[in-house]
Amino acid sequence: MKPPALSRYVVQPSRHIHGVASVPGDKSISHRALMLGSLAEGDTQIHDFLESEDCLATLIALRQLGVSIEGPNGGHVIVHGPQAGRLHAAPEALDMGNAGTAMRLFMGLLAGQPFDSKLIGDASLMRRPMERVAVPLRLMGAEISTADGRPPVEIRGHTTLAAIDYEMPVPSAQVKSAILLAALRADGRTRVVEPAPSRDHTERMLAAFGAEVLHSDGTIALQGGQQLHGTRVQVPGDFSSAAFFIVAGCLAARQGLVLRGVGLNPTRTGLLDLLREMGADIRVRPWDQDSLGAHSPIEPVADIEVRASPLYGIKVAPAAVPLAIDELPVFFIAAACAQGETLVRGALELRVKESDRLSAMASGLAQLGVEVELLADGLWIRGASDGFGGGAIDSHGDHRIAMAFATAAVRARGPIEIRDVASVATSFPNFVASAREVGLQIELCPAPAS
Ligand code: S3P
Repeated sequence: MKPPALSRYVVQPSRHIHGVASVPGDKSISHRALMLGSLAEGDTQIHDFLESEDCLATLIALRQLGVSIEGPNGGHVIVHGPQAGRLHAAPEALDMGNAGTAMRLFMGLLAGQPFDSKLIGDASLMRRPMERVAVPLRLMGAEISTADGRPPVEIRGHTTLAAIDYEMPVPSAQVKSAILLAALRADGRTRVVEPAPSRDHTERMLAAFGAEVLHSDGTIALQGGQQLHGTRVQVPGDFSSAAFFIVAGCLAARQGLVLRGVGLNPTRTGLLDLLREMGADIRVRPWDQDSLGAHSPIEPVADIEVRASPLYGIKVAPAAVPLAIDELPVFFIAAACAQGETLVRGALELRVKESDRLSAMASGLAQLGVEVELLADGLWIRGASDGFGGGAIDSHGDHRIAMAFATAAVRARGPIEIRDVASVATSFPNFVASAREVGLQIELCPAPAS
């Protein structure tokens, strides 16, 4: 159920985390399954699709572009590849809501279509940078305009795209994916060079839909004009949603906490390495891939078991940042509970996510009484291994900030109130129920009368 706008969490100190946590389907993979299914010939069956606001924004936009989609029905979606592979002009602007991934990938998907499109979003998305995607797409011949680098994004149709060789200035899976989606409709072979690995869900899924994607030494190459074929996509549990429980378990699961069926794509799981370096007790049991159905699996999946152990502060190498980019807010909570200092640099990207996550985490931690310093591209934190006080936190309308501070209740001595939590529905609609199941004493409360 969607919480009322401007609702808040009140989380009482929750010292014992235990049991088995359920984790919803992966957001990145759910977006991509819908999009590739909409470009493919034949039907695509998606299982355990994430029915969150972000992914539903993608689904609705594709319907507006003329794609016939059944569901979601208990996590099952069927995408009927459009007749003759054609999408149609949407009758109005496509509203991506809060979903940066949707907007950036749609830019690539729509760049080579023979009709005009306009992309808009909510207040947070309308502030986010889009030129990083528009620049390479223009080099391919696309006609794209932004408003001073931000949405609305207008894409002119009737363009023929040409392949490019592009070195990405920042490692970004969204930029890479937008280029690859445009490259499908471009003449020639497109090459994208990544400065550091970023999540590779698009490459894996393109291959599962029958495209040939070459990957060597940080260069991804895709020949234009390849036809995609509908397939079956089993969406694994979202590692980024699991991250809140992984950290809660590392801090407070004395008898252990198990997370089942979590996607363990190595381009996403940097958090596990960082926590282990801090002293965390984490065990991973990979699933037997044959049990995942008749088709070959697209993504690795595992059960994760964590157990409370003392954590120690670390210095995070900037190269580790892209592999844990969405998990850094909750990693900062782990750092705040560790013994000693933790330093993260090279995380400038966090300033242009759904909120300025460096600033939101620094002010929230300070509010709880944690010693923290906001740096231009990171945070310095002195851990309070004996815990910290409660307090009122502003989530800045950012789902990951809201859930990260809910996790902090495992070490808080007083209640933590987190304001403006409606955005949690963009990625983890059942967060409150799942968190309560494992012992977090969290309530969703109406916003106080102002
Ligand atoms: C995503 C890529 C990441 C991540 C975002 C989802 C994706 O962004 O932060 O939440 O699905 O491709 P960047 O690629 O911009 O780093």
